[in-house]
Amino acid sequence: MDRWLRRREPAAHPWHAMGAGLESEKEHAARAAAEMVEDGMSVGLGTGTTVAHLLPALASRRLSIRCTATSPETARLATGLGLHVESFTSARLDMAIDGADQINPQGWLVKGGGGAHTREKLVAVSADRFVVIADSSKPVAALHPPIPLELMEFGLESTLARLGTVRLRDVAHSPDGGVIADFIGEVGDPDDLAAWLEAAPGVVDHGLFPPSLVSTVLVARGVSVERIDFSSR
Ligand code: 5RP
Repeated sequence: MDRWLRRREPAAHPWHAMGAGLESEKEHAARAAAEMVEDGMSVGLGTGTTVAHLLPALASRRLSIRCTATSPETARLATGLGLHVESFTSARLDMAIDGADQINPQGWLVKGGGGAHTREKLVAVSADRFVVIADSSKPVAALHPPIPLELMEFGLESTLARLGTVRLRDVAHSPDGGVIADFIGEVGDPDDLAAWLEAAPGVVDHGLFPPSLVSTVLVARGVSVERIDFSSR
């Protein structure tokens, strides 16, 4: 557990150094993931600041790959870098690569800090391998709120009343018209919470990703990247 939670040593000027350090860690993890991609693959691209480092790393490899983006922002960035982005019409992808907000020791993820979790889960579950890239602030001993949600606009007040501890985010709707919110109640057993949210009418999807979805986690700590394989996916 200690090893899991270990972060890089703070440097002389903590504010700047930690910020720059985490950014550099994101880049290291992203580069390691880009190296796992092979010519001819179909690749799902996640969303967020870690994925923003993945895109140039992938583009610089000049592979012949077909990409599926989980958000308009990722599609725009990837296309601008010369990556071939196509709409999500295939039944399966070879690999998906994405960031995470939290990763627990069992391989549960919390995703959706950028509100893209519904599309991200759909892309991850369609991929033969799902690779998670993270800086050293993302491993946690236990998952904690907020847990991102996407809710239907139709009947929103009724859904909110039944869910209880939910806070709406002051952001645009998802590209699929969903309302982005966060569950802020106790997480407890993530399996139970995921099942409860999945059974709740009006919930399109939530940001809990089970270990069965995850193939590999690449966590950068300073300049080294720790690789953890969670399943045979
Ligand atoms: C977006 C996500 C991101 O992968 C997650 O929020 C991590 O983001 P970042 O790489 O910016 O820390 O799930 O919906």
